[in-house]
Amino acid sequence: MFFDQGLADVNFVLFRRREWLQYVADEISMSAFDRTMQGSSPAFLEVINAARIVAATDVTALLSGETGTGKEFLARVIHAESPRAAKPFLTINCASLTEQLADSLLFGHRRGAFTAADSDNVGYIRSAGSGTLFLDEVGELPLATQARLLRFLESGECLPIGEVTPVRVDVRIIAATNRELSAEVAASRFRQDLFFRLNIVPLVLPPLRERSEEILGLFRYFVEQACETYKLEPPLFDTLSLRLLREYPWPGNVRELRNLAKRMVILLGGRDVTPDNLPAEIRTAGTVSDAESAGGFRLPAEGIVMDQLEADVIRQALARTAGNRSRAARLLGISRDTLLYRLKKHSIA
Ligand SMILES: Nc1ncnc2c1ncn2[C@@H]1O[C@H](COP(=O)(O)OP(=O)(O)OP(=O)(O)O)[C@@H](O)[C@H]1O
Ligand SMILES: [Mg+2]
Repeated sequence: MFFDQGLADVNFVLFRRREWLQYVADEISMSAFDRTMQGSSPAFLEVINAARIVAATDVTALLSGETGTGKEFLARVIHAESPRAAKPFLTINCASLTEQLADSLLFGHRRGAFTAADSDNVGYIRSAGSGTLFLDEVGELPLATQARLLRFLESGECLPIGEVTPVRVDVRIIAATNRELSAEVAASRFRQDLFFRLNIVPLVLPPLRERSEEILGLFRYFVEQACETYKLEPPLFDTLSLRLLREYPWPGNVRELRNLAKRMVILLGGRDVTPDNLPAEIRTAGTVSDAESAGGFRLPAEGIVMDQLEADVIRQALARTAGNRSRAARLLGISRDTLLYRLKKHSIA
């Protein structure tokens, strides 16, 4: 038996469903949603159902969710299930692009349009032709490029840099962000009109910790996949290991879960797995009650305001390090990037 029977009850239903889906897949051609997207929680299925409807249309979709929740994966499935499936699916990552580079990559340029333009460039929008263009990390697009993108979305006409005549392009746009775009709009880092235009159908992928009922089902799926790929036996997980996997908050979401499943199969295929074999962060995540009894932070009976507490602690860390953000981040046990993100979130200067 792969999993302890006691813990497998919830998953049993999922696995049976999967077996059934596999059976149907052999019988009739299933949609890519069922074939590749794994998940069974109501929160996840709600997104998938909306995505099915979106796939059949040409509407612009905005996929949001934390890192590793499956935004690009879903974008590819939407494309595969759309009438454009036989046409190209191209991805452009909008992070860290200067305005000129972003414009040139998206809309293309004519030779000589600027100093470095030594040949014509078609750009992603025209290359994707009548297929789908996936704009990853769209929240990072420079503001001026955002304005041009909006113009393109409204008119369907692409104007390459250095050209005077726009070209009509029938491309479908799917955008993704792991930032809260409405907060970016509030902070004037993202154009509100573009946000409304992209957000016609918002598809929000929930983090794994908010659908913990499917963690073990997904884990098993990835273990089976890895066993097949590497021709190895599955490891045998004990009850406590499974509990720890289920309780871990999975900050890297499905990607982190998939990578661990792969690693466990490669290193421990066919062997017994106890908590000692799990990564330290997973072993220690299930010890909340231990931390409490060992004198860690005690939640007052009347509760707290989490955001307020976070902002207060950050202010104290900055005060203690005379405003040095790197040292403050170390004091808080978070990365400098995470601190910068939280400073913005709480509008702390
Ligand atoms: N529902 C799912 N079913 C099966 N596999 C999934 C699912 N969701 C995510 N994955 C797996 O997780 C991996 C990471 O997903 P993806 O690259 O789409 O995340 P992302 O949301 O784009 O993350 P990032 O914001 O870091 O770019 C995928 O390659 C896929 O293997
Ligand atoms: Mg991605």
